[in-house]
Amino acid sequence: MPTVRFAGHSVECPLGANLRMVLLRARLPLYNSVARALNCRGFGTCGTCAVRIEGKVSDLTTVERVRMQLPPHEREAGLRLACQCQVLGDLVVTKYLGVWGTGEGPVDPKASPKR
Ligand code: FES
Repeated sequence: MPTVRFAGHSVECPLGANLRMVLLRARLPLYNSVARALNCRGFGTCGTCAVRIEGKVSDLTTVERVRMQLPPHEREAGLRLACQCQVLGDLVVTKYLGVWGTGEGPVDPKASPKR
């Protein structure tokens, strides 16, 4: 069972689990500010579930590839949409500041309320 580390927490999940669902079921703060309420619920269109991932996940989906080319995202930033990723191994996941998670620096896990 892979382990996902996020905001100072570790969560185990089945191989192939959807990363967004793993984080939300663990009540971890995947979304920042208004995106907690205003997000596309995993359809890959809003871009607010963007995270940096270290570890093995599924390849970019077509919808993710398109969304990550649209502002405020930049393909070169290397972020991924948690809702489009299947967990394929142990991961370290980092959420950055801002509604779309594109800000300077990671979210402080101590300052982030659980969703
Ligand atoms: S939840 Fe909207 S893009 Fe992932």
